[in-house]
Amino acid sequence: MQDIKHHSKFIPLIPNWGINKYLPKGGGTILDPFCGSGTTLVESMISKNNSIGIDIDPLSCLISKVKTTPLNLRKLENIISWLSESVSKSTKCKFTPATSNIEHWFTTETITKLSNIRSRIDETTTVFGKSKSVMDIKDFLLICFSSIIRRVSKADNESQKTYVSHTKPKTPEEVNSLFFKQLTYFKTRIEEFSKIVSKNNNSIIFNTNSTINFKEFSYNHKIDLVITSPPYIKAIDYIYNQMVELFWIGDLFELQTQTLQNTKKKLYIGSKHFHKKDYADFNPLTTYLSIPHLDDKLISVFKSDTKNGHKHSFLTYKYFLDMENHFINMGSLLKRGNKYIMVVGDSSVSNIFFNTSNYLVDIGKRNGFTLINRWGYQIKNRYMRFDRKGRGGIIDIDWVLVFEKE
Ligand SMILES: C[S@@+](CC[C@H](N)C(=O)[O-])C[C@H]1O[C@@H](n2cnc3c(N)ncnc32)[C@H](O)[C@@H]1O
Repeated sequence: MQDIKHHSKFIPLIPNWGINKYLPKGGGTILDPFCGSGTTLVESMISKNNSIGIDIDPLSCLISKVKTTPLNLRKLENIISWLSESVSKSTKCKFTPATSNIEHWFTTETITKLSNIRSRIDETTTVFGKSKSVMDIKDFLLICFSSIIRRVSKADNESQKTYVSHTKPKTPEEVNSLFFKQLTYFKTRIEEFSKIVSKNNNSIIFNTNSTINFKEFSYNHKIDLVITSPPYIKAIDYIYNQMVELFWIGDLFELQTQTLQNTKKKLYIGSKHFHKKDYADFNPLTTYLSIPHLDDKLISVFKSDTKNGHKHSFLTYKYFLDMENHFINMGSLLKRGNKYIMVVGDSSVSNIFFNTSNYLVDIGKRNGFTLINRWGYQIKNRYMRFDRKGRGGIIDIDWVLVFEKE
């Protein structure tokens, strides 16, 4: 299910390249500390390695979990035929979205049909029990359900942003037929995956609010290789982009309303959701990262952008501070000689170019990571190639940085 939509998914060729180069024989454990929709994790398992994923975003974690969990195919078959019958029969719905303006996003007919499907999915554990295999299938159904939400909503399909266009009104797709079509497709993909992966390999996903104790983590998990793509400065707003999906499954993560969603945004690395009080005391002339080029640029943003300079300079500073913390955490996990492959793009902030990859190399270096290889490729993924209208700069090249732990 490589094609589940995630807004900054990287191409499987990258983890593939890294695994073939550094862990070709399998049997190791690969960590993706910003796992998103699980591209690295899937490739790790296909190549007979174990995988560990970490992400702050709960929906991404669930997508990753579903993509890396082989299913009991006979049980899946049974549950799908039960589901298709009960969706067509049932009119009693229990599930109602918590958000007050749901009609803005969906037609009445769509709301009724989505409520029906979600309620029937919720019933799977009542009907089939709560064994691990049934719980795994329920998660699989929830992700399938979530994958159709944008298409059946009134929100624009083309943009990453979640909004209802009045100039280009959309005809939402029909819920039931799309859901079952998608389910058939996902079923084929998970069948293929379940047959390929070895029973000896597993995948663990951690959903974090940056509270993982990495020292403790290192006692329990031996990591052989890290492959990841961290967020960018002024990163994609994952929560906003998944807003309509979260109306329908956000209750599983306490993110079912816009208010709950907004409070979480600040915790994401690269977030731009800061209030004045967050950066009121920040001044890049007195608070710096001790990377001369970078500190100078933070001052330039601060001084030259009279409208947003203060905020932009703070959020850029905070990005690098968070990434420094990240390197410290990775340093406590990895052994000498271990490789860390990071894919990252450069950005513009207030029209000033930030050579993010170079600064991360400097930050990595002072935390015990030496750059041993670096190459770039032009981004072809259409979900990445969107015009940020100067707000984040158009990112053309992704840099692949290969570090070695000293
Ligand atoms: C560039 S995306 C990774 C995409 C992934 N490679 C894929 O193929 O889907 C960056 C990820 O970092 C996650 N993230 C942001 N802040 C985080 C934090 N503090 N801790 C862990 N993950 C975080 C985001 O939720 C997002 O999924």
